[in-house]
Amino acid sequence: MDYDRYDRIRAVQWQGDHLRLLDQRLLPREERWIDCADASHITQAIKDLAVRGAPAIGIAAAWGVALAAKQGEPLDEVLATLRAARPTAVNLMWALDRMKKRIAAGADAEALVREAQAIQDEDLAANRKMGELGAALIRAHSGVLTHCNTGSLATAGFGTALGVIRAGVAMGRIDHVYAGETRPWQQGARLTMWELVRDGLPAQLIADSAAAHLMKSGAVQWVIVGADRIAANGDTANKIGTYQLAITAKYHGVKFMVAAPSSTVDMATGTGEEIEIELRDPAELLSIGGQRTVVEGAQAWNPVFDVTPAELIDAIVTERGVIERPNSIAMQAMFGW
Ligand code: MRU
Repeated sequence: MDYDRYDRIRAVQWQGDHLRLLDQRLLPREERWIDCADASHITQAIKDLAVRGAPAIGIAAAWGVALAAKQGEPLDEVLATLRAARPTAVNLMWALDRMKKRIAAGADAEALVREAQAIQDEDLAANRKMGELGAALIRAHSGVLTHCNTGSLATAGFGTALGVIRAGVAMGRIDHVYAGETRPWQQGARLTMWELVRDGLPAQLIADSAAAHLMKSGAVQWVIVGADRIAANGDTANKIGTYQLAITAKYHGVKFMVAAPSSTVDMATGTGEEIEIELRDPAELLSIGGQRTVVEGAQAWNPVFDVTPAELIDAIVTERGVIERPNSIAMQAMFGW
């Protein structure tokens, strides 16, 4: 795998005394960095989607705790505020629990910096492993469809679903990539296409509503998505629109893969029914790029994740291995509890 070609973006960068984030709200128009000087600034960046994507949120939060420790802030409060920043992606809670455990064990600020760095490094390694495992499931010369942004921007680097796609292209298994726009925030159009074009991968954007027509055409053999939380039975919360892709894939005989690190697996949550789905400001739906597109006075409902039942998933790929046709027993065998 030529990582120099396929793994060049680092959107979360520790600078020794602050955290630098590539502002995802401005891409692809502008590559502007935000320097977060304290944990509250990091919390705000998570809430506002300046940093987004389940693993990247967890990594940024871990750095928030390390930064707070260096600045002598009350860590219990910092942990609670960061935890409340967004509800669905469990990587946030997972990273904070890991930092909390180190604090309880008496770790000082420098030890917490090392822990945050370990969380970031392990995520990159997990993505590279998932790339190999996921790409191995795909037949040569396949077409794939992905949703949202699951690439370097959403992780420590390389990506989850996009990591599988990068590896699949590098290994000659994927000939063509389709990316859905991912309304309303357009992570697919604005972020995934930015990554794919930078890497020179053969990709085309589709409107979210073109997915069924695309699958019917026979051009895609796999839908490959990331995850924000995987329950103990394999039910998977991911960006809104994922569920309808899984239903459509099943109808058309297209395979459906979820790629996510084990930090996204939440064995304390029995099924997808128990996963809290983030509802965001309806205003995100009422305008595009700051331009109002809907009549004044209109209302909107804006859930930003949905749950795909395990029975619609052909493979869950984590760095620990692949679970085909996931269910509670297979999840328990791989992740224990
Ligand atoms: O609301 P976002 O942009 O943080 O949502 C991101 C997603 O849903 C991704 O698909 C998911 O986090 C997987 S990220 C590797």
